Amino acid sequence: VAEKVRLELVVNGARREVRAWPMARLLDVLREDLGLTGTKEGCGEGECGACAVLLDGLLVNSCLVPALQARGAAVTTIEGIAERAGRAAGGLSAVQEAFLACGGAQCGMCTPGMVVAAESLLERCPRPSDAELRAGLAGNLCRCTGYAKIFDAVREAAAARAGGGA
Ligand code: FES
Ligand code: FES
Repeated sequence: VAEKVRLELVVNGARREVRAWPMARLLDVLREDLGLTGTKEGCGEGECGACAVLLDGLLVNSCLVPALQARGAAVTTIEGIAERAGRAAGGLSAVQEAFLACGGAQCGMCTPGMVVAAESLLERCPRPSDAELRAGLAGNLCRCTGYAKIFDAVREAAAARAGGGA
């Protein structure tokens, strides 16, 4: 009979400890054990990017990551991105502000994953070309916006960050 096992990880800069089922997904631990429901479950099979988080700085789909694989790792969720921006600028990150300004969020299901992916892209590539932008968000699906407003938002965020924004 499977038993829960102890799992320590660092989530949004804070050391956390949970007891997780051996086959739990990182997505489940974040949402159910830690209450971080900003990370969404869309497809549950690695196709949509709604569950995207940063794992030791790398963009991953948390529905595909066994929670125990994240033992000792640093996880950043959408809550952590907002907290970091809040501490720095009293609000949302430049990417989040731009999604609002450009209409890049409609139903919102894809938005946390899109924002995490966009933050990851802009860390690696502060002024992405259109091709780099499309490649950077290629793992994130949106049923609502047609993507143009999302791409506008990331371009605007890149410009804002270049100008000294969050
Ligand atoms: S829910 Fe993880 S990729 Fe779709
Ligand atoms: S805003 Fe609805 S799926 Fe993207």
